[in-house]
Amino acid sequence: MPKHLYSADDLSRVLVTEAQIERRVAELGEQITGDYLGHNLSAIGILKGSFVFLSDLLRHIDLPLIVDFVAISSYGQSTKSSGVVRINMDLDQPIATRDVLIVEDIVDTGLTLRYLIDYLRRRSPASIKVCALLDKPARRETDIVLDYVGFTIPDEFVVGYGLDYSEQYRNLPFVGALKQSVYSK
Ligand code: IMP
Ligand code: MG
Repeated sequence: MPKHLYSADDLSRVLVTEAQIERRVAELGEQITGDYLGHNLSAIGILKGSFVFLSDLLRHIDLPLIVDFVAISSYGQSTKSSGVVRINMDLDQPIATRDVLIVEDIVDTGLTLRYLIDYLRRRSPASIKVCALLDKPARRETDIVLDYVGFTIPDEFVVGYGLDYSEQYRNLPFVGALKQSVYSK
């Protein structure tokens, strides 16, 4: 257990353990490998939240691929989606005719992903699919197909394994629920 990383008072519980994540990420990687065999895969990570998941996932994808990133902000310092999405950093590789797999940490309202899919579609990729570590369907505001999902979780604000609250907790090796007392301070 980490000793200095967080205060035990900050988290109400662990939702997904390190071992569960490890196993599921390996399964997703195998599945993606099978599905994209013979395709020109571009894995696109949404920064910053997906960087831990992406780096583990890619090492379980046994295929040649391009990795690229977009940085998007939708939340700012708050825990609620504003619905306003801004591209802070764009891809640096073309995706035309390529099979794009968007790798996201968590899908909540779905507004971020909706915006990004529409934005990338204009560059004529051969296909666009989505792989999300966590799916929080309770607050969905737009129809969106998640092709690969690690874990479906209840409507709680979670941190760890790349996910932050106000830029903190990204380096937790598991996914935990943040106590409401922390973000309503
Ligand atoms: P959406 O647009 O509402 O689907 O929100 C997507 C983005 O909000 C995710 O990529 C996360 O960065 C952030 N987000 C949503 N729920 C959580 C959470 O429980 N913890 C941390 N970040 C979250
Ligand atoms: Mg995100």
